[in-house]
Amino acid sequence: MSEFVPVARVDDVPPGEVKVVHARDKSLALGHCEDDTWGAIDNVCTHDGGVLGEGELEDCLVECPRHGARFDLLTGEVRALPAVFPVNAYPVRIRDGVVEVDVGVPTKPLEIG
Ligand code: FES
Repeated sequence: MSEFVPVARVDDVPPGEVKVVHARDKSLALGHCEDDTWGAIDNVCTHDGGVLGEGELEDCLVECPRHGARFDLLTGEVRALPAVFPVNAYPVRIRDGVVEVDVGVPTKPLEIG
């Protein structure tokens, strides 16, 4: 069931940036792509626990600040090693200048390594 919760204001995350936000008990990497698409993924790199929300965003890919693995902001799939396991992705919507993330979607436990 959908469970959208507010996590930031649109102005808090300029296009091309990713930041750490919190929704319920989840820490998330919220990104705003250059084409104005928004997405959110788990804030943990599955290679060795890097903080994805402190990384870089380019072409809707989040680059881990530790060893450079890349994750698709919209699907959570791995797009560049050294990570091999995906993270969960969460739907994002904008309401009245507020960014909301759906934390009600089914998720899988993360595999690290
Ligand atoms: S912890 Fe993210 S690439 Fe190593």
